[in-house]
Amino acid sequence: MAIERIVNSTLPSNDDNNDENQIEITLRPQSFLEYIGQERLKKNLKLAIEAAKKRGDTMDHVLLYGPPGLGKTTMATVIANEMGAGLRVTAGPAIERSGDLASILTNLQDGDILFIDEIHRLNRAVEEILYSAMEDYKLDIVIGKGPAARSVRLDLPKFTVIGATTRTGALAAPLRDRFGHIHRLEFYTTGEIQKIIERSGNILGANIQIEAAEMLSTRARLTPRIANRLLKRVRDYADVNGDGIIDTSMTEGALIMLEIDRLGLDAADRNLLQRMIEMYDSRPVGLNTLSALTGDEASTIEDFYEPYLLQIGFIERTPRGRLVTPRARKHLVDSSQEWYNTTDESTRL
Ligand SMILES: Nc1ncnc2c1ncn2[C@@H]1O[C@H](COP(=O)(O)OP(=O)(O)OP(=O)(O)O)[C@@H](O)[C@H]1O
Ligand SMILES: [Mg+2]
Repeated sequence: MAIERIVNSTLPSNDDNNDENQIEITLRPQSFLEYIGQERLKKNLKLAIEAAKKRGDTMDHVLLYGPPGLGKTTMATVIANEMGAGLRVTAGPAIERSGDLASILTNLQDGDILFIDEIHRLNRAVEEILYSAMEDYKLDIVIGKGPAARSVRLDLPKFTVIGATTRTGALAAPLRDRFGHIHRLEFYTTGEIQKIIERSGNILGANIQIEAAEMLSTRARLTPRIANRLLKRVRDYADVNGDGIIDTSMTEGALIMLEIDRLGLDAADRNLLQRMIEMYDSRPVGLNTLSALTGDEASTIEDFYEPYLLQIGFIERTPRGRLVTPRARKHLVDSSQEWYNTTDESTRL
């Protein structure tokens, strides 16, 4: 799409050397203690980990789902650290053939954790091999071709799969059933996001005032990844336009530049809502129509725009499509006024 968004600007990316990824890795919590929020999830997992350790066993397979940037990959790292287990990382689209999965599985050590990101994107043939591997720790492979082909059953080490997905709906039921723990990651509270910003600020050595962290926490779509990205943008802004100290006026200046409003919506969100209102008024709009309206892929709309807009009650999902709520309409009117006022003020300055 044309506008670079703070919401999904670097995704998808397989380039581990890019700056954004490096910083994300530096900021990634390593233990439950560092992992802020998601209290219910942490409580459940801590119990499961403690029980598994007590028994000297591996823990049941874990499925984590929820919108991008809420901490699924991070949680997989934390679980591996807390279990003291080895972590192998792969992703659904990376496992193209059953042979790829077989080689990953046969290379695992006893007790290892296998993290499969975007697990909803595994293909059927691979998925079927994974079923029996997860259930009985056996791998059925066929050796040879034609009439001479024979099937062999290999024993695998005991391991734990942690699967991550933004959509459980896209996961085949038999695969979902193989997971003992299925957890949804929730949006964070602004208080938690503020703590995350302060923690990241410390790690990055950014000089951020509490009031500025508080202001930023309301603009980050209740999402840690976006909070960290905003922090970096605001830090750049304060380095260039001030003396590096991130106070509320620097924060406000950066947010205006990024066109991020009071609720964390950016120009693309407002454009989406505006178009839905102009063209469909109070009628529901289907996902494909929305995709045509904005020029974004349907999956981008589902993963990046919708979850937060649903969370703050700006759109509703009906069987016939998406509806803009009165609340969103009010916000658009108010925020256009707000933009007008801010521009007015900044020209006065
Ligand atoms: N609970 C948390 N506390 C502190 N920082 C967090 C937390 N959760 C996530 N983060 C930060 O947000 C960043 C993004 O998190 P992560 O990569 O785990 O999200 P994800 O759910 O795997 O997203 P995706 O669906 O795009 O893969 C991490 O690098 C980490 O720094
Ligand atoms: Mg991830």
